[in-house]
Amino acid sequence: MDKFLIRGGIPLRGKVEISGAKNSALPCLAATLLTPDTVTLHNVPYVKDLITLRRLLEDMGATVLTPELRTHKITAKNIETFEAPYELVKTMRASVLALGPLLARFGQAKVSLPGGCAIGTRPIDLHLRAFERLGAVVSLESGDVVATAPQGRLIGAEFSFEKVTVTGTENVMMAAALAQGKTVIRNAAQEPEIEDLAELLNKMGARIKGAGTPVLEIEGVEHLSGAEHTIIPDRIETGTFIVAAAITQGELEIKSCNPEHIKAVIEKLREVGVQIEELNQSTLSVRCSPAGLRAMDVTTEPHPLFPTDMQAQYMALMTQADGTSAVTETIFENRFMHASELIRMGADIQISGNKAMVQGKTPLTGARILASDLRASASLVLAALCASGETLIDRVYHIDRGYETIVDKLSSIGANIERITDGLAAGAERPN
Ligand code: UD1
Repeated sequence: MDKFLIRGGIPLRGKVEISGAKNSALPCLAATLLTPDTVTLHNVPYVKDLITLRRLLEDMGATVLTPELRTHKITAKNIETFEAPYELVKTMRASVLALGPLLARFGQAKVSLPGGCAIGTRPIDLHLRAFERLGAVVSLESGDVVATAPQGRLIGAEFSFEKVTVTGTENVMMAAALAQGKTVIRNAAQEPEIEDLAELLNKMGARIKGAGTPVLEIEGVEHLSGAEHTIIPDRIETGTFIVAAAITQGELEIKSCNPEHIKAVIEKLREVGVQIEELNQSTLSVRCSPAGLRAMDVTTEPHPLFPTDMQAQYMALMTQADGTSAVTETIFENRFMHASELIRMGADIQISGNKAMVQGKTPLTGARILASDLRASASLVLAALCASGETLIDRVYHIDRGYETIVDKLSSIGANIERITDGLAAGAERPN
């Protein structure tokens, strides 16, 4: 299993390019199942989750060409199976995004039920109940969700999600795009990734209004066709690099990002004392205030508020801020697994329920630590970058799921980081 060896204490300086958003590329790739025509997607990040989803599409019978590394041309003309097997779903929960498109286009789908994961139980009951509202019959057979549309086609309906769910909204939006009649989804997720998916679907011929607001109106169409689309920049990678500049007291220019998508993060980090300037619509300049960082409380909420996917990185930063900060997690249970590793590095963190009290500023020192999930891994990398001495982070396959060429990107801005494969130091991986 790969590890990262990081020698910390170096201020990061220079320019870094943000990749395409993993959480947008995943539903957009799944959406290609809605049409027999070719869909071309640009700016697809080269990360493990996307490679997994690509394999799922190919296993089903789709052809995927990559004329360039980050361009995928997908043709789901000859789909032979309508199934996402356990082997894939257990490594990547987002495989459930195949359910909506398969059900809508072929009237049947079988997707293994995702089990518990590192950040909580994460059920998909809200997705399934919404499919039932569109007329699907859903049953659980030997750990698989089996869904069918009795007349071969889903029927539009009006309903409200009990709780805001991102992939749930995406799954149902894709299903409703090909349903008969109109669907109205209330309490829909408002993430930029929802807007990006709606934009792709509308280019394919769907009739979706309201993406980015809590009410989505979808007029079902008979069929969807091919389209070409560029995936939005990854807002969580952007936020992670802002924290990387701040925590190492460095200075970074972050390029090819969209500051509009992470307003809540930028606002919070400015309150903390990080100097963030928008050089233009897609470039940020970031540096730490000479006065240092102030501890500030934060609570995770659905978009447009502070994202749960930045909670771990924020907690790492708060170990370097003066004072006490309360970090409250409201989206996922059990999403503080990074805290125990940060404590091993010298952080002072007390957890009580869904609240972590971080007492700063504490010097961090290198240690052997374990990554537990994608964003937790990012926070450990950040902590290691500002720690004195060497940190060895095990199980970095978590970070490879969602951060493109992170070793290369960090090295190019001055970090001392190397990937160790089976006990041997390997050169940073670069997709070619
Ligand atoms: C997506 C993101 C993930 C992010 C999360 C919250 C992708 C691929 N992943 O995950 O990075 O952390 O949004 O912003 O886009 N829930 C249920 N039943 C359901 C569905 C969700 O109870 O059927 C609960 C979840 O357990 C969680 C909350 O709703 O407590 C929000 O989850 P959801 O928005 O669905 O997260 P994901 O879409 O899985």
